Amino acid sequence: MARVELRDIVRKRRMVHRFTREPVADETLLRILEIARHAPSAGFSQAFRLVVLDDPGRLEWFWRLTTPPDELPELDQRIATGPPVVVLPFTSKAAYLDRYSAPDKAGFGLQSEEAWPVPFWHVDAGMAIMLILLAAVDEGLGGWYFGIVHGESDLLPELGIPDQYALLGAIAIGHRAPEDVRTQGSAFSRPRVSVDELVRRSHW
Ligand SMILES: Cc1cc2nc3c(=O)[nH]c(=O)nc-3n(C[C@H](O)[C@H](O)[C@H](O)COP(=O)(O)O)c2cc1C
Repeated sequence: MARVELRDIVRKRRMVHRFTREPVADETLLRILEIARHAPSAGFSQAFRLVVLDDPGRLEWFWRLTTPPDELPELDQRIATGPPVVVLPFTSKAAYLDRYSAPDKAGFGLQSEEAWPVPFWHVDAGMAIMLILLAAVDEGLGGWYFGIVHGESDLLPELGIPDQYALLGAIAIGHRAPEDVRTQGSAFSRPRVSVDELVRRSHW
């Protein structure tokens, strides 16, 4: 039974781009974000952190700062249909290097970045972000992960982010607007990969 519920939530999840003005109750938001505590992390480093922006003034400031100049004409529209909550996810490479310098991990030889086969601080963050997106669906809300391509250098000092933490994009959370009906974009123009393409048995 539980398996069916998970699959329903996974299939229902879509990136939501337009939201209603309805706020997200704080206890709902905390239930959604709390799930990230249960994300796996290499060496249980748990270096994932979240900064919540849910004050209307703060959100307007966020959109103004992060909207690229050529998209500024759409800013008012973006704010009007934007989410009531934007959560900024962060990770710390330094925390992983530190964790893997501890006596129980030092034997892996991962005290320096070059030794890591893949940056697990990014892998772990992806796992945690996905949990948040699924938890939002579970609460009857919508989520949208997007990259920050502009304004990061102004954003981080104002938010008091310590130097060792790197911004990983943004997660919008809110009530999906009825007009969030997408008929274009890569999620529509590109077919979903088939199971045969996805899964190879014993050999590529
Ligand atoms: C790492 C990553 C970066 C993404 N960046 C953006 C983005 O900057 N803007 C955006 O609108 N969507 C972004 N997306 C959403 C993808 O376009 C979306 O997941 C994909 O088209 C499939 O659609 P669906 O998630 O609604 O099923 C990103 C997704 C991922 C996983």
